[in-house]
Amino acid sequence: MEACYRTAVFLLVTTAVLGSPLINDLEPGKYWPERLSVKQPNEPEVEYTTFDDDLISTTEATAKLTEDEADNAIPEIISRAAEAEAENKVDYSGAQVWKVSTEKNGVRAVIGLLRRRNLIATWAGNQSYVDVLVKPQAVENVTRVFKRENIDFNIIIDDLQKRINEENPPLDDLEVELQDRRGHRMTWKQYHRIEDIYGFLDYLAKTYPAIISVRSIGKSYEGRDLKVLRISNGQPSNRAVFIDGGIHAREWISPATVTYFINRFAENFQDEDDDIKNIDWYFLPVVNPDGYEYTHTADRLWRKNRKPAIARQCYGTDLNRNFGYRWGGKGSSSNPCSDIFRGSRMFSEPESKAVSEFIKNAAANFTAYLTYHSYGQYILYPWGYDNAVPPDHKSLDDVGKAMATAIQQTGGSQYTVGSSSGVLYPAAGGSDDWAKGQGIKYSFTIELSDTGRYGFILPTSFIEPVAKESLAGLRVLASYVNKY
Ligand code: ARG
Ligand code: ZN
Repeated sequence: MEACYRTAVFLLVTTAVLGSPLINDLEPGKYWPERLSVKQPNEPEVEYTTFDDDLISTTEATAKLTEDEADNAIPEIISRAAEAEAENKVDYSGAQVWKVSTEKNGVRAVIGLLRRRNLIATWAGNQSYVDVLVKPQAVENVTRVFKRENIDFNIIIDDLQKRINEENPPLDDLEVELQDRRGHRMTWKQYHRIEDIYGFLDYLAKTYPAIISVRSIGKSYEGRDLKVLRISNGQPSNRAVFIDGGIHAREWISPATVTYFINRFAENFQDEDDDIKNIDWYFLPVVNPDGYEYTHTADRLWRKNRKPAIARQCYGTDLNRNFGYRWGGKGSSSNPCSDIFRGSRMFSEPESKAVSEFIKNAAANFTAYLTYHSYGQYILYPWGYDNAVPPDHKSLDDVGKAMATAIQQTGGSQYTVGSSSGVLYPAAGGSDDWAKGQGIKYSFTIELSDTGRYGFILPTSFIEPVAKESLAGLRVLASYVNKY
């Protein structure tokens, strides 16, 4: 009784003095013990000096383009509508998204060339197709090239800016009123700014101090906290699961989904199944807060973090090419202007470094690492760096398939399960490979919805169904974690 009263007063006082405290009032050392013996990654240091973004030979494609088409390259998106200009945002008016079949020989080479000419950007793809963003000034030209080369394509989005404008409308009055009463502003009816997301995490830590704590595991390049929320019943025998989102800035459905998980577990913990209650959950909903904010304020389609390259000619490293397992290999670029820039060395970025240090040093017994991305509806396991699978790939495949089945059985979407190099393309430096290399048994990259109708610009009405069906998959994962 006495202790309870003291806690209440303490909370009242600290809250009054600090406003809303960044971290909750738990003693961090007690709840976040450091692990003493640290596993060291014994990956060789590799030096790469050449720019090798040109993964596909260009000679074939060059031969197929006329002088005029090849020279018609544009530097960057420069056209801005009046409205977007006022906000100083990148304007995607007239930009299109096409789904291009890559089954025919030579198609990839043509795409590679158009990409290096800055006429298109690749969004997603697998072995049989690729989704490309065609820049407005290039639509005519690229259409002509594709028609002439008999390349099959479908226009999925015919005015990207229009989709962007409709994607994330303001909440209606009723929702806003509810928001003001709740103690936090988070909803799953809108894509929120980082402030709302962090406010929500802090609110939960204050509201449920017995099971929830929040800690900043480091700072982003621009100085934002990297907030991890932990949910645990404190049983020493628990296994631990680490879940992150928002490695890629533009994949807005990812932080929305991870925060949905948090909300469901936090608000309902005592009534959850033992499979959920007996796991120590660690959630980092936004690995890349600088990039995430940038997608809200400047460029909706930004992917990387926001640290400038040494020469400052371009910004950002692809954090999912910066992790230190077989870093520098296939599907990553040494060109700082590339969307898949791997960074100057492994863990050169504060965000990837913080994640890896946290996982290595935590006392937690991590049995699963899940990283949420979009889009494509895939459940992917290692390896990503090249066409190979770990010795226990069969059990990863079983778990992945069980998750996919559960997702579909909720009346939900179809997910494809496989190794990421096998199903998608090889890409080295991913967080999933690194986690697996640390000995974390169940390491998965989950590519959320959709399969390309909206791509990254998924309307807010999708948040709840996507997150809900994903939770069904997560529950299955939890049962395997407890069985392992
Ligand atoms: N779409 C993700 C990316 O390109 C897939 C990552 C899969 N994992 C991997 N290690 N390649 O980053
Ligand atoms: Zn991604």
